[in-house]
Amino acid sequence: MSTAIAEMKTQAQPAGTYKPKGMLIGGKWVESASGARIIIENPGKRTAVAEVPRAGEADVNAAVEAAEKAFPAWKNVVPRERGKILLKIAEVLEARSEEMARTIALETGNALRTQARGEAKLAADIFRYFGGLGSELKGETVPLGEHVLSYTRREPIGIVGAIIPWNAPVMLGALKIAPALCAGNVLVMKAAEDAPMAVLLMADICQEFLPPGVLNVLTGYGQECGGPLANHPKIRKLSFTGSTEVGKVIMRAAAERIVPVSLELGGKSPSIVYPDADEDWAVDGIINAMRFTRQSQSCTAGSRMFLHEDIFDSFLRKLEKKTTALKIGDPLDEASDIGTIINNKQYTKVCKYVQDGLDRSDAKLVFGGLPPKTGPLSEGYFTMPTVFADRSNDWRLAREEIFGPVLVAIRWSDEAEAIRMANDSHYGLAAYVWTHDIGKGLRAAHAIESGWVQVNQGGGQTPGMSYGGYKQSGLGREFSLEGMLDSFTQRKSVTVNLAV
Ligand code: NAI
Ligand code: MG
Repeated sequence: MSTAIAEMKTQAQPAGTYKPKGMLIGGKWVESASGARIIIENPGKRTAVAEVPRAGEADVNAAVEAAEKAFPAWKNVVPRERGKILLKIAEVLEARSEEMARTIALETGNALRTQARGEAKLAADIFRYFGGLGSELKGETVPLGEHVLSYTRREPIGIVGAIIPWNAPVMLGALKIAPALCAGNVLVMKAAEDAPMAVLLMADICQEFLPPGVLNVLTGYGQECGGPLANHPKIRKLSFTGSTEVGKVIMRAAAERIVPVSLELGGKSPSIVYPDADEDWAVDGIINAMRFTRQSQSCTAGSRMFLHEDIFDSFLRKLEKKTTALKIGDPLDEASDIGTIINNKQYTKVCKYVQDGLDRSDAKLVFGGLPPKTGPLSEGYFTMPTVFADRSNDWRLAREEIFGPVLVAIRWSDEAEAIRMANDSHYGLAAYVWTHDIGKGLRAAHAIESGWVQVNQGGGQTPGMSYGGYKQSGLGREFSLEGMLDSFTQRKSVTVNLAV
């Protein structure tokens, strides 16, 4: 990676995008202790567009120290007042959402119109949602008898260590910052090395309103910066979003010190299409659920489609017509529906899966395939929405998280068998069911082993819904009031003898 990047052409940062000032430690913008930096690539053009500090252990230590100093005062701010600060942050996030969206599009390759603008707005909504929840950090009284007063308090855990990925960096960052801070914790968050700029903009907006050290944001690589963060003895809670593989590393670090951990990991989410859903709305829903306009770089992508045999061919024809009409192009261009894959490593990985599908005799390419080697789309990490039809749920493309626009269509005739195949995965994050028969739809929804099942829609998460995975897709829930209470507070019981 470093050699490829050293040879990379540079490009002036496009107007209207955020210029990083460094990392945020103790309310100050700083360089890394070593002075090393990370070059940020525009995946739409394979050009270097910016640099951020490359944090290591010394920077993690400095950030944890700053957070430790800030904690006593922050936890004693009246929760309602902490909420008001989040609401002020939400206002500025909203006001600067176009700058945020352009920055997201530039560094992630997610198309501005179809993805980045929505993500920037959602970040403001997340702060607004949690900003209203300060007064909901309630405890209970426990009826232990007339002469005993027993009650519980929801107390903050302390310094939260958060690590986020690049696929929806601002949304996923907001989902950790807002609930952690509302509940009275302080935070050291590591942005993903591929997409730190928009997260730094969010940090810049937050720090206008927060006391120094309450939120610290580091930019650095996984092992080099994420490692010391996960293993720091003063971090009292770990919250991670990313791959299942690294999730296991984080959980091991948590086990060493017995600290609570929240994990939002990968997925291989099933979509079950019933024969009565051979209609345009269901096709649009499948395109949305598969997140084709985010190059399917989504943990909730509905990437295994179980299609009833009676509609197998007609549904795929409709899907081809609608999907191939989507415009692939420069993420910052208003006309683009689909942008690029994040980096060369992920691009190569996605192409390998496509090649595997092409090489497999049982699989039939329905549409898509390998990306063009010449022309404008070869200038960035553009991939083609691709669908393979296969009888089996057992091959690599149906089992592994591809994190690219490769959808596998599998035929079914017996409902119980479709549900069995849907559940035959070590993942269990999301699922989608498509039918007019609501009884059938809900029976399937209840039978599927996933943290989130949508019936007749394929949208993204909305603040207020507890979101998280079954099986190896994760542990714990975020995104909701209950998520905040469970993930970012600890309960204390106080029991008083009233007879004295
Ligand atoms: P990753 O899981 O390696 O990276 C996520 C975050 O973890 C980044 O901030 C990274 O710097 C950090 N990290 C990596 N190794 C670490 C370590 N040893 N200790 C502490 N922090 C560490 O994901 P990556 O490499 O970007 O993508 C690989 C695959 O992971 C994708 O193809 C996809 O399947 C999956 N993924 C899933 C995501 C989700 O939302 N569930 C998001 C991103 C990736
Ligand atoms: Mg990795």
